[in-house]
Amino acid sequence: MSEVLSSKRRTFLASTIATGAGLTILPSGTMAAKGPGGKLNIALIGAYGRAKQHYRDLKTQNVVAICDINAENLAIAAKEFPQAKQYKDWRICLEQKNLDAVVCCTPDHHHAFVTIWAMNRGLHVYCEKPVADCVAEAREVRKVYLANKHRLATQHGTQRHEWENFDRVAELVKGGAIGDIQDVHTWGNRTHPLKDYYPAEGTPPPHIDYDLWTGPTQMHPYSPQYFSGRPGANCLQWNPFDDFGSWQVGDMGSHTMDLAWNAIDADRPTKIVVDKKKSDPYNPGACPSALMAIFDMPANDWRGPIRLTWSQGGPMPNSPVKALDLTKIGHGAMFKGTKGVIVADFKTRMIFPAAKGADMTYYKSPTPDQVAPPINGWMQQWFDACKGDLKTAADFDYSARMIETLMLGLVAHRAGKPLNYDAKSGRITNDEAANSFLHKPYRKGWKLNG
Ligand SMILES: NC(=O)c1ccc[n+]([C@@H]2O[C@H](COP(=O)([O-])OP(=O)(O)OC[C@H]3O[C@@H](n4cnc5c(N)ncnc54)[C@H](O)[C@@H]3O)[C@@H](O)[C@H]2O)c1
Repeated sequence: MSEVLSSKRRTFLASTIATGAGLTILPSGTMAAKGPGGKLNIALIGAYGRAKQHYRDLKTQNVVAICDINAENLAIAAKEFPQAKQYKDWRICLEQKNLDAVVCCTPDHHHAFVTIWAMNRGLHVYCEKPVADCVAEAREVRKVYLANKHRLATQHGTQRHEWENFDRVAELVKGGAIGDIQDVHTWGNRTHPLKDYYPAEGTPPPHIDYDLWTGPTQMHPYSPQYFSGRPGANCLQWNPFDDFGSWQVGDMGSHTMDLAWNAIDADRPTKIVVDKKKSDPYNPGACPSALMAIFDMPANDWRGPIRLTWSQGGPMPNSPVKALDLTKIGHGAMFKGTKGVIVADFKTRMIFPAAKGADMTYYKSPTPDQVAPPINGWMQQWFDACKGDLKTAADFDYSARMIETLMLGLVAHRAGKPLNYDAKSGRITNDEAANSFLHKPYRKGWKLNG
Protein backbone atom coordinates (compact mmCIF):
# COMPACT_ATOMS: atom_id res chain seq x y z
CA MET A 1 0.00 0.00 0.00
CA SER A 2 1.36 3.44 -0.81
CA GLU A 3 2.16 5.55 2.26
CA VAL A 4 0.25 8.50 0.80
CA LEU A 5 -2.95 6.50 0.25
CA SER A 6 -2.61 4.88 3.66
CA SER A 7 -2.35 8.18 5.49
CA LYS A 8 -5.19 9.71 3.40
CA ARG A 9 -7.35 6.73 4.28
CA ARG A 10 -6.83 7.29 8.00
CA THR A 11 -7.42 11.04 7.78
CA PHE A 12 -10.59 10.40 5.82
CA LEU A 13 -11.86 7.93 8.41
CA ALA A 14 -11.14 10.32 11.25
CA SER A 15 -12.88 13.22 9.56
CA THR A 16 -15.96 11.15 8.64
CA ILE A 17 -16.36 10.09 12.25
CA ALA A 18 -15.81 13.62 13.53
CA THR A 19 -18.68 14.80 11.30
CA GLY A 20 -20.98 12.13 12.69
CA ALA A 21 -20.26 12.96 16.31
CA GLY A 22 -19.43 16.61 16.05
CA LEU A 23 -21.14 19.90 16.75
CA THR A 24 -24.27 20.68 14.77
CA ILE A 25 -24.30 24.01 13.02
CA LEU A 26 -27.62 24.67 11.34
CA PRO A 27 -27.37 25.74 7.71
CA SER A 28 -28.94 29.13 7.13
CA GLY A 29 -31.57 27.65 4.76
CA THR A 30 -33.12 25.35 7.41
CA MET A 31 -36.78 26.21 7.98
CA ALA A 32 -38.76 25.58 11.15
CA ALA A 33 -41.19 22.61 10.98
CA LYS A 34 -44.76 23.79 10.51
CA GLY A 35 -46.51 21.25 12.77
CA PRO A 36 -47.51 21.90 16.39
CA GLY A 37 -44.66 21.59 18.89
CA GLY A 38 -42.07 21.69 16.13
CA LYS A 39 -43.31 18.46 14.52
CA LEU A 40 -42.96 17.94 10.79
CA ASN A 41 -46.10 18.16 8.65
CA ILE A 42 -45.74 15.08 6.47
CA ALA A 43 -47.48 13.79 3.35
CA LEU A 44 -47.39 9.98 3.11
CA ILE A 45 -47.59 9.00 -0.56
CA GLY A 46 -48.24 5.30 -1.10
CA ALA A 47 -50.01 4.91 2.24
CA TYR A 48 -50.11 1.13 2.83
CA GLY A 49 -47.86 -1.91 2.13
CA ARG A 50 -44.31 -0.85 2.91
CA ALA A 51 -45.68 2.37 4.44
CA LYS A 52 -47.21 0.30 7.26
CA GLN A 53 -43.70 -0.29 8.62
CA HIS A 54 -43.28 3.47 8.94
CA TYR A 55 -46.55 4.23 10.79
CA ARG A 56 -44.92 4.07 14.23
CA ASP A 57 -42.18 6.54 13.33
CA LEU A 58 -44.59 8.75 11.41
CA LYS A 59 -46.87 9.01 14.46
CA THR A 60 -44.09 10.87 16.28
CA GLN A 61 -44.61 13.64 13.72
CA ASN A 62 -47.73 15.19 12.19
CA VAL A 63 -49.06 13.34 9.13
CA VAL A 64 -51.32 15.91 7.44
CA ALA A 65 -51.82 14.21 4.06
CA ILE A 66 -52.13 10.62 2.85
CA CYS A 67 -52.28 9.59 -0.78
CA ASP A 68 -53.03 6.23 -2.39
CA ILE A 69 -54.55 5.06 -5.68
CA ASN A 70 -56.15 2.15 -3.82
CA ALA A 71 -59.22 3.38 -1.86
CA GLU A 72 -59.13 0.36 0.47
CA ASN A 73 -55.50 1.01 1.35
CA LEU A 74 -56.21 4.71 1.79
CA ALA A 75 -59.00 3.82 4.22
CA ILE A 76 -56.59 1.67 6.28
CA ALA A 77 -54.13 4.57 6.47
CA ALA A 78 -56.94 7.01 7.30
CA LYS A 79 -57.70 4.99 10.45
CA GLU A 80 -54.08 5.49 11.54
CA PHE A 81 -53.96 9.17 10.59
CA PRO A 82 -57.55 10.41 10.97
CA GLN A 83 -56.58 14.11 10.77
CA ALA A 84 -54.83 13.74 7.42
CA LYS A 85 -56.39 15.01 4.19
CA GLN A 86 -56.89 12.22 1.68
CA TYR A 87 -55.72 12.15 -1.94
CA LYS A 88 -55.61 9.76 -4.87
CA ASP A 89 -53.20 11.71 -7.12
CA TRP A 90 -49.83 12.61 -5.63
CA ARG A 91 -49.51 15.63 -7.94
CA ILE A 92 -52.51 17.21 -6.22
CA CYS A 93 -51.38 16.06 -2.78
CA LEU A 94 -48.07 17.89 -3.22
CA GLU A 95 -49.94 21.17 -3.66
CA GLN A 96 -51.20 21.08 -0.04
CA LYS A 97 -49.87 24.29 1.43
CA ASN A 98 -48.83 23.34 4.98
CA LEU A 99 -46.37 20.51 4.12
CA ASP A 100 -42.79 20.25 5.37
CA ALA A 101 -41.87 16.81 4.09
CA VAL A 102 -42.85 13.77 2.03
CA VAL A 103 -42.46 10.05 2.66
CA CYS A 104 -42.79 8.15 -0.63
CA CYS A 105 -43.67 4.43 -0.53
CA THR A 106 -45.25 4.01 -3.98
CA PRO A 107 -44.06 1.47 -6.56
CA ASP A 108 -40.63 2.25 -8.04
CA HIS A 109 -41.77 3.87 -11.29
CA HIS A 110 -43.15 6.86 -9.34
CA HIS A 111 -40.17 7.36 -6.99
CA ALA A 112 -38.07 9.81 -8.98
CA PHE A 113 -41.19 11.76 -10.01
CA VAL A 114 -42.56 12.18 -6.48
CA THR A 115 -39.09 12.93 -5.12
CA ILE A 116 -38.23 15.58 -7.69
CA TRP A 117 -41.65 17.25 -7.56
CA ALA A 118 -41.46 17.35 -3.76
CA MET A 119 -37.95 18.83 -3.67
CA ASN A 120 -38.99 21.42 -6.27
CA ARG A 121 -41.72 22.49 -3.82
CA GLY A 122 -39.23 22.90 -0.98
CA LEU A 123 -40.15 19.64 0.78
CA HIS A 124 -37.77 17.27 2.58
CA VAL A 125 -38.00 13.72 1.19
CA TYR A 126 -37.69 10.18 2.53
CA CYS A 127 -38.02 7.86 -0.49
CA GLU A 128 -38.22 4.10 -0.44
CA LYS A 129 -35.55 2.31 -2.40
CA PRO A 130 -34.71 2.46 -5.24
CA VAL A 131 -34.95 6.24 -5.53
CA ALA A 132 -35.06 5.92 -9.33
CA ASP A 133 -35.99 3.36 -11.96
CA CYS A 134 -33.37 4.16 -14.63
CA VAL A 135 -30.07 6.00 -15.07
CA ALA A 136 -31.60 9.28 -16.27
CA GLU A 137 -34.04 9.43 -13.34
CA ALA A 138 -31.23 8.83 -10.84
CA ARG A 139 -29.21 11.66 -12.39
CA GLU A 140 -32.18 14.03 -12.30
CA VAL A 141 -32.92 13.20 -8.64
CA ARG A 142 -29.31 13.94 -7.74
CA LYS A 143 -29.24 17.15 -9.79
CA VAL A 144 -32.37 18.53 -8.10
CA TYR A 145 -31.12 17.43 -4.67
CA LEU A 146 -27.73 19.13 -5.17
CA ALA A 147 -29.53 22.35 -6.11
CA ASN A 148 -31.56 22.13 -2.88
CA LYS A 149 -29.18 20.53 -0.38
CA HIS A 150 -28.69 23.82 1.45
CA ARG A 151 -32.34 23.67 2.54
CA LEU A 152 -33.58 20.07 2.28
CA ALA A 153 -32.87 16.78 4.04
CA THR A 154 -33.24 13.54 2.07
CA GLN A 155 -32.94 9.89 3.05
CA HIS A 156 -33.05 6.73 0.94
CA GLY A 157 -35.16 3.86 2.32
CA THR A 158 -32.16 1.60 2.89
CA GLN A 159 -32.90 1.27 6.59
CA ARG A 160 -30.60 -1.74 7.13
CA HIS A 161 -27.78 0.83 7.03
CA GLU A 162 -28.64 1.73 10.63
CA TRP A 163 -27.26 -1.64 11.72
CA GLU A 164 -23.85 -1.02 13.17
CA ASN A 165 -22.21 -3.63 10.94
CA PHE A 166 -22.39 -1.19 8.01
CA ASP A 167 -20.04 1.27 9.69
CA ARG A 168 -17.86 -1.47 11.22
CA VAL A 169 -17.25 -2.93 7.73
CA ALA A 170 -16.48 0.55 6.38
CA GLU A 171 -14.02 1.19 9.22
CA LEU A 172 -12.20 -2.08 8.53
CA VAL A 173 -11.94 -1.37 4.80
CA LYS A 174 -10.97 2.30 5.15
CA GLY A 175 -8.69 1.56 8.09
CA GLY A 176 -6.60 -0.80 5.96
CA ALA A 177 -7.47 -4.14 7.64
CA ILE A 178 -7.17 -5.92 4.26
CA GLY A 179 -4.49 -3.68 2.77
CA ASP A 180 -5.22 -1.92 -0.52
CA ILE A 181 -8.71 -2.71 -1.67
CA GLN A 182 -8.92 -4.04 -5.23
CA ASP A 183 -12.04 -6.02 -5.86
CA VAL A 184 -15.53 -5.84 -4.32
CA HIS A 185 -18.39 -8.30 -4.83
CA THR A 186 -22.03 -7.88 -3.85
CA TRP A 187 -24.75 -10.44 -4.44
CA GLY A 188 -28.33 -11.52 -3.83
CA ASN A 189 -30.07 -14.87 -4.25
CA ARG A 190 -33.66 -14.04 -5.28
CA THR A 191 -34.89 -15.50 -8.58
CA HIS A 192 -38.03 -15.22 -10.71
CA PRO A 193 -39.34 -17.44 -13.52
CA LEU A 194 -41.17 -14.72 -15.49
CA LYS A 195 -40.73 -13.91 -19.17
CA ASP A 196 -43.33 -11.22 -19.79
CA TYR A 197 -45.96 -8.96 -18.22
CA TYR A 198 -48.97 -10.82 -16.87
CA PRO A 199 -51.64 -11.50 -19.53
CA ALA A 200 -54.83 -9.41 -19.43
CA GLU A 201 -57.21 -10.66 -16.76
CA GLY A 202 -60.48 -9.03 -15.76
CA THR A 203 -60.94 -5.31 -15.15
CA PRO A 204 -59.61 -3.17 -12.30
CA PRO A 205 -61.92 -3.24 -9.25
CA PRO A 206 -63.55 0.09 -8.37
CA HIS A 207 -61.15 0.74 -5.47
CA ILE A 208 -58.04 0.66 -7.70
CA ASP A 209 -57.29 3.51 -10.10
CA TYR A 210 -55.21 1.54 -12.58
CA ASP A 211 -54.49 4.53 -14.80
CA LEU A 212 -52.95 6.45 -11.86
CA TRP A 213 -51.13 3.30 -10.71
CA THR A 214 -49.54 3.10 -14.17
CA GLY A 215 -48.80 6.82 -13.98
CA PRO A 216 -45.89 7.93 -16.15
CA THR A 217 -44.89 4.51 -17.43
CA GLN A 218 -46.31 2.48 -20.34
CA MET A 219 -49.83 1.05 -20.02
CA HIS A 220 -50.01 -2.75 -19.79
CA PRO A 221 -53.22 -4.78 -19.58
CA TYR A 222 -54.65 -5.04 -16.07
CA SER A 223 -54.03 -8.19 -14.07
CA PRO A 224 -54.97 -8.75 -10.41
CA GLN A 225 -51.55 -10.41 -10.04
CA TYR A 226 -49.90 -6.97 -9.77
CA PHE A 227 -51.86 -6.49 -6.54
CA SER A 228 -51.85 -10.00 -5.06
CA GLY A 229 -48.86 -9.90 -2.70
CA ARG A 230 -48.96 -9.49 1.06
CA PRO A 231 -48.55 -5.93 2.41
CA GLY A 232 -44.90 -4.90 2.31
CA ALA A 233 -43.98 -7.66 -0.16
CA ASN A 234 -46.36 -6.72 -2.96
CA CYS A 235 -43.43 -5.08 -4.74
CA LEU A 236 -42.32 -8.57 -5.84
CA GLN A 237 -45.55 -8.77 -7.91
CA TRP A 238 -44.59 -5.86 -10.19
CA ASN A 239 -40.85 -5.20 -9.82
CA PRO A 240 -39.72 -8.04 -12.15
CA PHE A 241 -41.17 -6.03 -15.06
CA ASP A 242 -39.10 -3.35 -16.72
CA ASP A 243 -41.76 -0.62 -16.84
CA PHE A 244 -42.56 -0.96 -13.13
CA GLY A 245 -39.22 -1.80 -11.54
CA SER A 246 -35.78 -3.28 -12.01
CA TRP A 247 -36.10 -6.60 -10.14
CA GLN A 248 -33.21 -7.23 -7.70
CA VAL A 249 -31.00 -4.52 -9.17
CA GLY A 250 -33.11 -1.88 -7.44
CA ASP A 251 -34.75 -4.12 -4.83
CA MET A 252 -32.24 -6.00 -2.66
CA GLY A 253 -29.47 -4.45 -4.77
CA SER A 254 -30.21 -1.12 -3.05
CA HIS A 255 -29.61 -2.65 0.38
CA THR A 256 -26.71 -4.93 -0.46
CA MET A 257 -24.80 -2.47 -2.63
CA ASP A 258 -25.24 0.03 0.21
CA LEU A 259 -23.13 -2.25 2.43
CA ALA A 260 -20.29 -1.88 -0.09
CA TRP A 261 -21.02 1.72 -1.15
CA ASN A 262 -20.65 2.89 2.47
CA ALA A 263 -17.17 1.37 2.57
CA ILE A 264 -15.68 2.37 -0.78
CA ASP A 265 -16.68 6.04 -1.28
CA ALA A 266 -17.40 5.37 -4.92
CA ASP A 267 -18.52 7.61 -7.71
CA ARG A 268 -19.96 6.25 -10.96
CA PRO A 269 -18.21 3.59 -13.12
CA THR A 270 -16.14 4.23 -16.23
CA LYS A 271 -16.87 0.83 -17.74
CA ILE A 272 -19.62 -1.74 -17.34
CA VAL A 273 -19.36 -5.36 -18.45
CA VAL A 274 -22.08 -7.98 -18.13
CA ASP A 275 -20.94 -11.59 -17.96
CA LYS A 276 -23.22 -13.06 -20.63
CA LYS A 277 -22.46 -16.67 -19.69
CA LYS A 278 -23.72 -16.07 -16.16
CA SER A 279 -26.69 -13.82 -17.02
CA ASP A 280 -30.09 -14.45 -18.58
CA PRO A 281 -30.53 -13.14 -22.12
CA TYR A 282 -32.15 -9.71 -22.52
CA ASN A 283 -35.93 -9.80 -22.63
CA PRO A 284 -37.95 -6.59 -23.14
CA GLY A 285 -40.68 -7.69 -20.68
CA ALA A 286 -39.12 -9.12 -17.56
CA CYS A 287 -35.81 -8.02 -16.08
CA PRO A 288 -33.11 -10.71 -15.96
CA SER A 289 -33.39 -13.09 -13.03
CA ALA A 290 -29.70 -14.09 -13.28
CA LEU A 291 -27.29 -11.21 -13.82
CA MET A 292 -23.62 -10.50 -13.22
CA ALA A 293 -22.59 -6.89 -13.86
CA ILE A 294 -19.00 -5.76 -13.36
CA PHE A 295 -18.19 -2.07 -12.91
CA ASP A 296 -14.77 -0.38 -13.21
CA MET A 297 -14.78 2.22 -10.45
CA PRO A 298 -12.23 5.03 -10.63
CA ALA A 299 -9.73 5.77 -7.86
CA ASN A 300 -10.63 8.28 -5.18
CA ASP A 301 -8.42 10.22 -2.76
CA TRP A 302 -7.79 7.28 -0.40
CA ARG A 303 -7.75 4.20 -2.68
CA GLY A 304 -6.83 3.11 -6.17
CA PRO A 305 -9.28 1.97 -8.89
CA ILE A 306 -11.41 -1.04 -7.97
CA ARG A 307 -13.61 -3.57 -9.69
CA LEU A 308 -17.13 -3.77 -8.28
CA THR A 309 -19.48 -6.65 -9.13
CA TRP A 310 -23.22 -7.08 -8.60
CA SER A 311 -24.47 -10.67 -9.00
CA GLN A 312 -28.06 -11.82 -8.62
CA GLY A 313 -30.15 -14.92 -9.05
CA GLY A 314 -27.40 -17.56 -9.31
CA PRO A 315 -23.94 -16.29 -10.25
CA MET A 316 -21.62 -15.94 -7.25
CA PRO A 317 -18.02 -14.94 -6.57
CA ASN A 318 -15.57 -17.62 -5.47
CA SER A 319 -15.14 -18.06 -1.75
CA PRO A 320 -11.79 -16.98 -0.26
CA VAL A 321 -11.57 -20.31 1.65
CA LYS A 322 -12.99 -23.77 1.02
CA ALA A 323 -14.58 -23.90 4.47
CA LEU A 324 -16.88 -20.98 3.71
CA ASP A 325 -19.84 -21.60 1.40
CA LEU A 326 -20.79 -18.14 0.13
CA THR A 327 -24.12 -19.41 -1.20
CA LYS A 328 -25.20 -19.73 2.44
CA ILE A 329 -25.09 -15.92 2.58
CA GLY A 330 -28.25 -14.89 0.74
CA HIS A 331 -27.34 -11.22 0.42
CA GLY A 332 -23.72 -10.33 1.01
CA ALA A 333 -20.59 -8.41 0.14
CA MET A 334 -16.94 -9.39 -0.16
CA PHE A 335 -14.00 -6.99 -0.17
CA LYS A 336 -10.67 -8.25 -1.50
CA GLY A 337 -7.50 -6.38 -0.63
CA THR A 338 -3.78 -6.93 -1.01
CA LYS A 339 -3.59 -8.35 2.53
CA GLY A 340 -6.84 -10.18 3.02
CA VAL A 341 -10.55 -10.51 2.44
CA ILE A 342 -13.64 -9.33 4.34
CA VAL A 343 -16.94 -11.18 3.87
CA ALA A 344 -20.06 -9.55 5.28
CA ASP A 345 -23.79 -9.82 5.39
CA PHE A 346 -26.01 -7.10 6.83
CA LYS A 347 -25.28 -7.92 10.46
CA THR A 348 -21.98 -9.80 10.58
CA ARG A 349 -18.47 -9.66 9.13
CA MET A 350 -15.49 -12.02 8.85
CA ILE A 351 -11.87 -11.23 8.04
CA PHE A 352 -9.58 -13.67 6.25
CA PRO A 353 -5.99 -12.43 6.37
CA ALA A 354 -3.96 -13.37 3.28
CA ALA A 355 -2.35 -16.80 3.58
CA LYS A 356 1.16 -15.33 3.46
CA GLY A 357 2.64 -12.17 4.92
CA ALA A 358 -0.52 -10.85 6.58
CA ASP A 359 0.34 -10.78 10.27
CA MET A 360 -2.07 -7.82 10.67
CA THR A 361 0.50 -5.84 12.68
CA TYR A 362 0.08 -3.19 9.95
CA TYR A 363 -3.52 -2.63 11.08
CA LYS A 364 -4.33 -0.35 13.98
CA SER A 365 -7.92 -0.91 15.02
CA PRO A 366 -9.82 2.27 15.90
CA THR A 367 -10.20 3.40 19.49
CA PRO A 368 -13.79 3.75 20.83
CA ASP A 369 -13.81 7.50 20.16
CA GLN A 370 -12.82 6.88 16.53
CA VAL A 371 -15.76 4.68 15.53
CA ALA A 372 -18.91 6.13 14.00
CA PRO A 373 -21.68 6.71 16.54
CA PRO A 374 -24.79 4.50 16.31
CA ILE A 375 -27.67 5.62 14.10
CA ASN A 376 -30.62 5.63 16.43
CA GLY A 377 -33.41 5.05 13.94
CA TRP A 378 -33.17 5.49 10.19
CA MET A 379 -36.26 7.62 9.78
CA GLN A 380 -35.51 9.39 13.06
CA GLN A 381 -32.15 10.44 11.60
CA TRP A 382 -34.05 12.04 8.71
CA PHE A 383 -36.58 13.74 11.05
CA ASP A 384 -33.65 15.20 13.01
CA ALA A 385 -31.94 16.28 9.80
CA CYS A 386 -35.09 18.02 8.53
CA LYS A 387 -35.18 20.05 11.74
CA GLY A 388 -31.44 20.42 12.10
CA ASP A 389 -28.25 20.08 10.09
CA LEU A 390 -29.85 18.42 7.01
CA LYS A 391 -27.31 15.55 7.21
CA THR A 392 -28.31 11.91 6.77
CA ALA A 393 -26.33 8.74 6.06
CA ALA A 394 -27.94 8.14 2.64
CA ASP A 395 -28.90 11.45 1.07
CA PHE A 396 -29.74 11.63 -2.64
CA ASP A 397 -26.17 12.49 -3.61
CA TYR A 398 -24.89 9.26 -2.04
CA SER A 399 -27.85 7.07 -2.98
CA ALA A 400 -28.65 8.37 -6.47
CA ARG A 401 -25.04 7.74 -7.55
CA MET A 402 -25.37 4.20 -6.22
CA ILE A 403 -28.66 3.65 -8.06
CA GLU A 404 -27.26 5.20 -11.26
CA THR A 405 -24.42 2.66 -11.07
CA LEU A 406 -26.70 -0.32 -10.47
CA MET A 407 -29.05 0.73 -13.30
CA LEU A 408 -26.06 0.94 -15.65
CA GLY A 409 -25.76 -2.83 -15.14
CA LEU A 410 -29.16 -3.25 -16.80
CA VAL A 411 -28.16 -0.88 -19.61
CA ALA A 412 -25.04 -2.94 -20.38
CA HIS A 413 -27.13 -6.10 -20.17
CA ARG A 414 -29.53 -4.71 -22.75
CA ALA A 415 -26.74 -3.39 -25.00
CA GLY A 416 -25.15 -6.85 -24.95
CA LYS A 417 -21.60 -5.50 -24.96
CA PRO A 418 -19.12 -3.74 -22.65
CA LEU A 419 -19.94 -0.05 -22.32
CA ASN A 420 -17.71 2.91 -21.54
CA TYR A 421 -19.43 5.58 -19.45
CA ASP A 422 -18.68 9.24 -18.88
CA ALA A 423 -20.33 10.08 -15.55
CA LYS A 424 -19.81 13.81 -16.02
CA SER A 425 -21.96 14.01 -19.15
CA GLY A 426 -24.03 10.90 -18.38
CA ARG A 427 -23.22 9.46 -21.80
CA ILE A 428 -22.11 6.08 -23.07
CA THR A 429 -19.13 6.86 -25.22
CA ASN A 430 -18.61 3.68 -27.25
CA ASP A 431 -22.17 2.89 -28.38
CA GLU A 432 -24.36 5.84 -29.37
CA ALA A 433 -27.50 3.70 -29.62
CA ALA A 434 -27.15 2.42 -26.04
CA ASN A 435 -27.70 5.98 -24.77
CA SER A 436 -31.39 5.50 -25.47
CA PHE A 437 -31.46 2.78 -22.76
CA LEU A 438 -30.48 5.30 -20.08
CA HIS A 439 -34.01 6.69 -19.84
CA LYS A 440 -37.58 5.46 -20.10
CA PRO A 441 -40.34 6.72 -22.35
CA TYR A 442 -43.18 8.38 -20.41
CA ARG A 443 -46.86 8.64 -21.21
CA LYS A 444 -48.27 11.93 -22.42
CA GLY A 445 -48.93 14.42 -19.63
CA TRP A 446 -46.24 13.13 -17.23
CA LYS A 447 -43.16 15.23 -16.57
CA LEU A 448 -40.22 13.96 -14.52
CA ASN A 449 -38.98 17.36 -13.38
CA GLY A 450 -42.22 19.17 -12.65
N1 LIG B 1 -36.89 -0.63 2.56
C1 LIG B 1 -37.37 -1.85 2.52
O1 LIG B 1 -36.87 -2.76 3.18
C2 LIG B 1 -38.56 -2.14 1.66
C3 LIG B 1 -39.34 -3.28 1.87
C4 LIG B 1 -40.45 -3.49 1.05
C5 LIG B 1 -40.73 -2.58 0.02
N2 LIG B 1 -39.93 -1.50 -0.17
C6 LIG B 1 -40.20 -0.52 -1.25
O2 LIG B 1 -41.44 0.09 -0.98
C7 LIG B 1 -42.10 0.39 -2.20
C8 LIG B 1 -43.54 -0.12 -2.12
O3 LIG B 1 -43.52 -1.51 -2.04
P1 LIG B 1 -44.85 -2.28 -1.59
O4 LIG B 1 -44.51 -3.73 -1.50
O5 LIG B 1 -45.45 -1.60 -0.45
O6 LIG B 1 -45.75 -2.05 -2.93
P2 LIG B 1 -47.34 -1.90 -3.12
O7 LIG B 1 -47.65 -2.37 -4.49
O8 LIG B 1 -48.05 -2.55 -1.98
O9 LIG B 1 -47.57 -0.33 -3.09
C9 LIG B 1 -47.50 0.42 -1.90
C10 LIG B 1 -48.70 1.36 -1.79
O10 LIG B 1 -48.60 2.36 -2.79
C11 LIG B 1 -49.88 2.52 -3.38
N3 LIG B 1 -49.71 3.12 -4.70
C12 LIG B 1 -49.44 2.53 -5.87
N4 LIG B 1 -49.31 3.46 -6.85
C13 LIG B 1 -49.50 4.66 -6.26
C14 LIG B 1 -49.51 6.00 -6.74
N5 LIG B 1 -49.29 6.28 -8.02
N6 LIG B 1 -49.76 6.99 -5.85
C15 LIG B 1 -50.02 6.72 -4.55
N7 LIG B 1 -50.04 5.46 -4.05
C16 LIG B 1 -49.76 4.46 -4.89
C17 LIG B 1 -50.45 1.12 -3.38
O11 LIG B 1 -51.86 1.11 -3.54
C18 LIG B 1 -50.03 0.63 -2.00
O12 LIG B 1 -50.95 1.01 -0.99
C19 LIG B 1 -41.27 -0.25 -3.30
O13 LIG B 1 -40.56 0.74 -3.98
C20 LIG B 1 -40.34 -1.19 -2.60
O14 LIG B 1 -39.08 -1.30 -3.23
C21 LIG B 1 -38.87 -1.26 0.63
